[in-house]
Amino acid sequence: MKYFAVIGNPIAHSRSPEIHDAFAKALGLTINYQRLLSEPAQFTQTVNAFFHRTDVGVEHARTECAEARNPIAGHGMNVTVPFKEAALQYADELSEAAQIAGAVNTLTNQSGKIKGDNTDGIGLVTDILTNHQWPIADKRVLMVGAGGAARGCLLPILKQQPQQLTITNRSVDKAQSLAEGFQKYGNIDYADYTDYATTDTLNRPYDIVINATAASLHGQMIALPAEIFSADTLAYDMMYAKKPTPFMTFAQQHRATAVDGLGMLVEQAAQAFYLWHGEHPETATVIQRIRQSL
Ligand code: ATR
Repeated sequence: MKYFAVIGNPIAHSRSPEIHDAFAKALGLTINYQRLLSEPAQFTQTVNAFFHRTDVGVEHARTECAEARNPIAGHGMNVTVPFKEAALQYADELSEAAQIAGAVNTLTNQSGKIKGDNTDGIGLVTDILTNHQWPIADKRVLMVGAGGAARGCLLPILKQQPQQLTITNRSVDKAQSLAEGFQKYGNIDYADYTDYATTDTLNRPYDIVINATAASLHGQMIALPAEIFSADTLAYDMMYAKKPTPFMTFAQQHRATAVDGLGMLVEQAAQAFYLWHGEHPETATVIQRIRQSL
């Protein structure tokens, strides 16, 4: 039996155990997947205990094959708020996605070495392309927000070769520095939504508008221009809830198709599951089941 966990603070609300258990059951695998609450100051200690490690970053030789020596050492860990940057520092090795996102949401025990990955962006892209059947290639995409959630998705979106990816944010300087940092990966620019009348970009509809801000978490609406939406726009809120978020309602009022981020949650989990088990789980029924229980 392999051991898994999701670490965060708070963590009681996390649906990850349910999602991974459902994936495993459907594929006939038996796993043990738990929630791990950690105080920020105890992050390294808690993760060390899970992976049965002692001196992280100092004496790898001593901990090598820790998993082989101790059969109940954890095999994989998902990382959620507020530990994604701490997990980036913790990992011995990073995937390209994690390095460029500047955050880790998946840790894998590779014979005592811990590999850090980030599956959030691929989760978002898979949800948009596969579950919502909305193309990204050659389309105009607007990312609202310039924090960790936005940053983690930029490279996977750019890999789909959109015509343009625009970042807009309440603090426009953050949008600017993100756009400049990602220019080498594709067509990316930024715009100021608080002063949109003076920019060309936010005066016409986008094919996809993604809300990666924390505004929905607080039930707040962002003062976005209505011109960015049309009947051909997919408005995607990374948050999910029983009721449409204020961002989704505003987009619907301006004829857009509005969806929430439940599919992204399940698809990022599916990608982590693949990294750990080498099998792609079926996601549609899991999304449907969680939707019904919201
Ligand atoms: P995360 O890692 O979840 O992205 P974060 O780094 O704190 O969290 O970023 C939060 C994002 O939500 C930022 O883009 C923030 O805008 P600022 O950079 O201007 O702070 C945005 N945000 C939070 N509350 C908002 C609100 N009420 N209206 C608009 N943007 C908001």
